[in-house]
Amino acid sequence: MRNILVTGASGGLGGAVVQVFEASGDRVIGISHPAYDLTRPEECARAVASIDGPAHALIHLMGGFAGGQPVAETEDGTWRRMMAMNLDAAFYMARAAVPRLLEQPGGRIVMIGSRNAVRPAANLAAYNASKAGLVALVQTLALEVAAGGATANVVLPSVIDTAANRAAMPTADPGRWVPPAAIAELIVWLASPAAAQINGAVVPIYGRS
Ligand SMILES: NC(=O)c1ccc[n+]([C@@H]2O[C@H](COP(=O)([O-])OP(=O)(O)OC[C@H]3O[C@@H](n4cnc5c(N)ncnc54)[C@H](OP(=O)(O)O)[C@@H]3O)[C@@H](O)[C@H]2O)c1
Repeated sequence: MRNILVTGASGGLGGAVVQVFEASGDRVIGISHPAYDLTRPEECARAVASIDGPAHALIHLMGGFAGGQPVAETEDGTWRRMMAMNLDAAFYMARAAVPRLLEQPGGRIVMIGSRNAVRPAANLAAYNASKAGLVALVQTLALEVAAGGATANVVLPSVIDTAANRAAMPTADPGRWVPPAAIAELIVWLASPAAAQINGAVVPIYGRS
C-alpha cells in the first residue's frame, strides 16, 4: 500500500482525488486546513513528517483564487495572498517532501496549476502569475528528481465543476466544465507506476470551457 499525501483534500477537487486514490488501494494522508496552514514552511514540514512510513507521492491540490481588478488597481493583499496560496505553499511542500519521496524509487509529485498559467486572463494578474510560477516550480522539480527515479508533473484545469463554481456562476453551463472525477483519474494515473516515463509534463484538462 502506497502512502499518498494530499493537500487541499477538503476542497471541491479534493474529495474526488481522495476517493480515486483510496479506490486504487492507496493510503491517503489528507492535509486539512486549519489544522495545517500550508502558507507557512514549518507547517509544511509538519505535514510531511506526519506520514508514517515511506512517502510515495505528494499530490498538491491546495490553492486559491482572487482578483477581478486590472494590475493598476490590484492591492498588495491580493497579490501576496495569491503568491502565498498558489506558489509559496507549493514550494514549501515540495522542499519538505522531496527528500522523503527520494528515499525509494518511484516517488511522485503532482500539482494543480490552472489554464491561466499558460493562457492568462485579464484582471487576474496575481492568480495568473502565481500559477505560472507553480508550473516553473514543477518543471524544475522534474529535472531535479529524475535521477532519483521520481517524477513531477502539473495539471492545468480550466473550470472545475464544483459546488462553489456552480454557486458563483449560476447562469453558466456546468456541462462544459471539467468533472472533479476526471481530474482525479488523471492525477492518480500520473502518480501510478504506469506513468513512470512522464516527467515535467504540463497537462491541460479543459473540458469544453
Ligand atoms: N475550481 C476551479 O475551477 C479551478 C480551476 C483551475 C484550477 N483550480 C485549482 O485546483 C485546485 C483545487 O481547487 P478547488 O476548487 O478544489 O479549491 P477549493 O475548493 O478552494 O479548495 C482549496 C483547498 O485548499 C485548502 N487550503 C486553503 N488555504 C489553505 C492553507 N493556508 N493551508 C492549508 N490548506 C489550505 C482548502 O481548505 P479550506 O477549505 O479549509 O480553507 C481546501 O481544502 C486549486 O489549486 C485551484 O487553484 C481550480
